[in-house]
Amino acid sequence: MNDLAGKHIVLGLTGGIACYKAAELCRALIKEGATVQVVMTEAAAQFITPVTMQALSNRPVYGSQWDAREPNNMAHINLSREADAILIAPCSADFMSKLLHGGADELLSLMCLARPIDTVPLLIAPAMNREMWAHPATQRNLMQLAADGATILGVGSGFQACGETGDGRMLEPDELLADVIAFFQPKLLAGKQVLVTAGPTFEAIDPVRGITNRSSGKMGFAIARAAHEAGAQVTLVAGPVALATPRGVQRIDVQSAIDMLQACVEQAPAANIFVATAAVADWRPAQASDQKIKKDGSGQTPTLAFVENPDILANVAQSGRAQAGDLFCVGFAAESHDLLAHATAKRARKGVPLLVGNIGPATFGKDDNALLLVDADGTQELPHASKLHLARQLVSEIARRLPNAP
Ligand code: C5P
Repeated sequence: MNDLAGKHIVLGLTGGIACYKAAELCRALIKEGATVQVVMTEAAAQFITPVTMQALSNRPVYGSQWDAREPNNMAHINLSREADAILIAPCSADFMSKLLHGGADELLSLMCLARPIDTVPLLIAPAMNREMWAHPATQRNLMQLAADGATILGVGSGFQACGETGDGRMLEPDELLADVIAFFQPKLLAGKQVLVTAGPTFEAIDPVRGITNRSSGKMGFAIARAAHEAGAQVTLVAGPVALATPRGVQRIDVQSAIDMLQACVEQAPAANIFVATAAVADWRPAQASDQKIKKDGSGQTPTLAFVENPDILANVAQSGRAQAGDLFCVGFAAESHDLLAHATAKRARKGVPLLVGNIGPATFGKDDNALLLVDADGTQELPHASKLHLARQLVSEIARRLPNAP
């Protein structure tokens, strides 16, 4: 996807060993369609060469306010005026302190100070030793920078180049990329809490066997990501899938439909929106054996009796808050045929305002999909696209249907 198409990012590097990650970040931003202009401090150039950053960004790197390449000799003005965002990665403790005080004794800080504060956002990816990070001065500076309008992208935790372990590492390039992409998404769900179910469930037969289905969880994970990008606080209740948790999303792993129901019942009272994408098993073995069911050589097969699983979506949709309009519930229907008829019937049966239909066999495990939205006013097709793209569209359709939506 070209999630950053048309965006011009000024990538500022300051002195820190995490500069090596800035090379990868630069590539990743460009791969998503952004143009990247690199500006480096003198200290940053001790860690990675401007030649490397020029080759990766395909643009000459700026490092001095006396750069004579600019006809008006005002690199700080020119560079900041064309930016959709300035991203400082890595941002050293010293540079944070400089930004805080409005210091401007070299090009990068001068450019940050000179940026039109209302139209050119400043994103900061700190990187430093854990003691420096924990120091009250750094924490104070962070809070003040955020109060001054900067977006702090947080830090990672783990082994540090100095040999110590703790908080303060720069986030990984893929994490920063996800944060930058999210930053540019419209905040349609700001202040909302979203609960999403995703993936299959696993219904145990015995300790080593069970019944599951082919749901990959990708659609639900994409919805969780899109809702987070839209500014919501997101809880994702996931059945057994091997997918990475989207940035900023709280994940609760479950196995069975009963576990999923319990997690949803616990989380739903805090939610404003519930999106049930999980392919919950309709039935579970009536009695899961404590011990492995053994083949005894007689050729006899075990007889499995099933009981129906609770309907999680219908349960949540019948809660007082959902009925009062405080919890907007969205269901999914994975069908193999007659999508419209089944989706319409399912919407009524589940008692939800919005039902999203898709053709199960065509989408299970894939990265793309096509959706059919059914609500009280009729139907709407979201044509074939990546699941993330569809998830963003769905988020905007949900936002539009919320009570008090503009
Ligand atoms: O009844 P059916 O499984 O076709 O309905 C699909 C919708 O209901 C999906 O949104 C699914 O997540 C939800 N569902 C549920 N609990 C079940 C079965 C389905 O939440 N036990």
